Amino acid sequence: MEFRKLIQQRYSVRNFLPKEVELSKLETILEAGRMAPSAVNFQPWHFIVVCDKQMMQALANCYHREWFATAPCCIVVCSDHQQSWKRREDGKDHGDIDAAIAIDHMTLQAVELGLGTCWVCNFNVEKTRKLFQFPAHIEPVAFLPVGYPNREEVPVKKRKPTQDIVHWNTFKA
Ligand SMILES: Cc1cc2nc3c(=O)[nH]c(=O)nc-3n(C[C@H](O)[C@H](O)[C@H](O)COP(=O)(O)O)c2cc1C
Repeated sequence: MEFRKLIQQRYSVRNFLPKEVELSKLETILEAGRMAPSAVNFQPWHFIVVCDKQMMQALANCYHREWFATAPCCIVVCSDHQQSWKRREDGKDHGDIDAAIAIDHMTLQAVELGLGTCWVCNFNVEKTRKLFQFPAHIEPVAFLPVGYPNREEVPVKKRKPTQDIVHWNTFKA
């Protein structure tokens, strides 16, 4: 799919068809995440693929939304703070940025495969940590439910106008 069309077609899918996602498609999505750039190429991420029904229920208990329970599977994207690059000047940890890029690759790849996703960061962190027994340096960054969208049309994108966010040569607030 042409890139501009792809980003136009991606939207946050919050209603999925009760249809399993093919393993080969999930693997393609994960590969898109794996290919993402990262600071110093440290690749400080883990992608936990949840397809098992019981585990999906347990995950839904970490993010209580009716729509989330319609997803057939979910990729839990984690940042590894032992592996992420920290800028020497101020110690800024780039793990979240790296994870976000990988997630974005995966969301776009999913659209190309006819699938939908939705970023979810508003989950219960403690419950999620317990569920997967994450050690302290592994941070769950986002849930990425994946499935076939239960609608045909793409919603109109609500975005700020270009002039409010693009600055040429100087910054004016
Ligand atoms: C970092 C991040 C966190 C988000 N967390 C949630 C979330 O917890 N629940 C949810 O329903 N949507 C979440 N979203 C989706 C946004 O609401 C959505 O991307 C935004 O409204 C733009 O709509 P669009 O994705 O359909 O273009 C999140 C998106 C991002 C980028």
